[in-house]
Amino acid sequence: MTTKIALLGFGTVGKGTYRALTQNAAEIERKTGKRIEVKKILEKNPAVIGSGLAPKELFTQDFDSIVNDPEISIVAEIIGGSEPATTFMLRALRAGKHVVTPNKAVIAANYDMFRQAAAENGVQIRYEASVGGAIPVIETIRKSLVANRITKVQGIVNGTTNYILTKMEEEGMSYGDALKQAQESGFAEQDPTADVEGIDSANKLSILIAECFGVYIKPTELDRTGISKLTRDDLRLATQNGCKLKLIASAERKEDGSIEAFVRPTEVPQDSPLAAVRNEFNGILFSCNMADKIFLSGRGAGMDPTGSAMAADIISLAK
Ligand code: HSE
Repeated sequence: MTTKIALLGFGTVGKGTYRALTQNAAEIERKTGKRIEVKKILEKNPAVIGSGLAPKELFTQDFDSIVNDPEISIVAEIIGGSEPATTFMLRALRAGKHVVTPNKAVIAANYDMFRQAAAENGVQIRYEASVGGAIPVIETIRKSLVANRITKVQGIVNGTTNYILTKMEEEGMSYGDALKQAQESGFAEQDPTADVEGIDSANKLSILIAECFGVYIKPTELDRTGISKLTRDDLRLATQNGCKLKLIASAERKEDGSIEAFVRPTEVPQDSPLAAVRNEFNGILFSCNMADKIFLSGRGAGMDPTGSAMAADIISLAK
């Protein structure tokens, strides 16, 4: 059976999602018996439309032609930013379409609203790609660890800042040069302030807290410090202390039910699995009451890794 979907946006993650679904179509069908057809792509940039990466006839500039198309059952929002992404996602949910997105800022800012809109319309909103890129973080919390009380989650959830810290520490690169390289590699946000000031990590931590502990805390309410004021001396000091300096997003559920959460540069002991997470890679360490410690690591940003997680959500909905 074929499931028809639409992509809103054909930037880095849009291309990765399209590639995962088309290049690996036979693999997906072998494993699931499902075919996914990208029926429409909302995109207005002529250079992107003419890039040859997807047939020209798939492109449209008319969101209504997507939301009113009864054949399209899943809409993947990959425009980024707040608007029109938020409005398009809500309209898609209200039109009875499932929504998949990597848009952590929009999900973190409107977590309850989206969950409610999905429930009211009998559809799902899925955002595996919003935390940890390719790493199956949400799937792990909801399925593999479902029988556990998760007591703590700690992560390196921003590839750009981890890349900068790694390059500064290992190669003595300047903060500015390392940031420039991260931007050129396509990891950084359009405005890298969101990365370096810990805003992106706070968005992801808000989602992690909601998923792990069932409590929604707005990202703006989280205690947050970024890496923009760190120097190579701070990194050297961490090394002297037998540690690595990492931008850690952490949330712990206390016995009384309160949650202690922060995003901040933290000295991580060398023997912690988080210390071994280098460059744009992400790592998430769960502490659980049954499974004990679970550590997941992988590529947290970029076209194909994020496309992989987007495609997984789309295929899972198709199933
Ligand atoms: N700017 C983000 C990062 C992209 O560097 O991790 C992936 O969410």
